[in-house]
Amino acid sequence: MKKAIIIGGTSGIGRALAEKLLENDWKVAITGRRVELLDEIKVKSNNKMITLAHDVTEIDNSDSKLNSLFEQLGVVDLVVVSSGISELNGKLDWDIENKVIQTNVNGVAKIYGFVFQKFIEQGHGHLVGISSLAALRGNRMCASYSASKAFQANYLEAMRCIAKRKRVNIKVTDIQPGFVNTPMAKGEGLFWIVPVKKAADQIFTGIQKEKRKVYISKRWRLIAWVMRVMPSWVLEKL
Ligand SMILES: NC(=O)c1ccc[n+]([C@@H]2O[C@H](COP(=O)([O-])OP(=O)(O)OC[C@H]3O[C@@H](n4cnc5c(N)ncnc54)[C@H](OP(=O)(O)O)[C@@H]3O)[C@@H](O)[C@H]2O)c1
Repeated sequence: MKKAIIIGGTSGIGRALAEKLLENDWKVAITGRRVELLDEIKVKSNNKMITLAHDVTEIDNSDSKLNSLFEQLGVVDLVVVSSGISELNGKLDWDIENKVIQTNVNGVAKIYGFVFQKFIEQGHGHLVGISSLAALRGNRMCASYSASKAFQANYLEAMRCIAKRKRVNIKVTDIQPGFVNTPMAKGEGLFWIVPVKKAADQIFTGIQKEKRKVYISKRWRLIAWVMRVMPSWVLEKL
């Protein structure tokens, strides 16, 4: 039986993917801050799901919390880091920016590094990060979020390069959703919104195929291309 840990599995994409993995006979552990949701999910899964309360911004606890899950599961085949927050913050209020940076940058990088090291010790593993299409360009409504997602995307790519250079059997996948129908998808002008179950199905397929990068859904590849080539003066007018 394959084993997975999902960081940020209490709602949205992480939760849907955890359920998908469970349906496919994986042993799954999820984390998140909302203890009542963790308990509810555990009961709903007939106690199959392992749950652990963990706040990724509590950096000093991160290694020991994750280690406890590795010890419970034994060898871990897959870790998905889905935890994240996003706030519309065109005024660049520092309290909001700082919260996003602590969660999406510091919290996530600490987990990436710990898991990468564990996979080296195990001799194999698959690390999946959920960045975003927002990684591609700066966004005036959520500067810290778009920058944090660029950080994640580049970090994942760097780890893939390290694994290749070290010749270790570690796969790294960067999932780049456009808009997925979860509480996080906020603001006006949202389009091509993907149902969360469909997103989980596509991520699962991407994991099975050990893809380097997966757009959710595939048609967002076109937007990714447009965003990459868009001149700055056009972006500034949007
Ligand atoms: N929805 C979209 O349109 C979209 C688009 C592109 C990328 N993404 C990315 O997809 C990922 C999942 O988002 P989602 O849409 O599924 O949103 P969501 O339903 O809000 O899920 C976010 C998850 O992150 C966890 N989390 C947040 N802060 C945390 C913290 N400090 N410590 C531990 N866990 C924390 C939450 O759990 P607790 O609250 O229980 O801690 C929750 O399980 C995020 O990284 C997001 O940036 C989403």
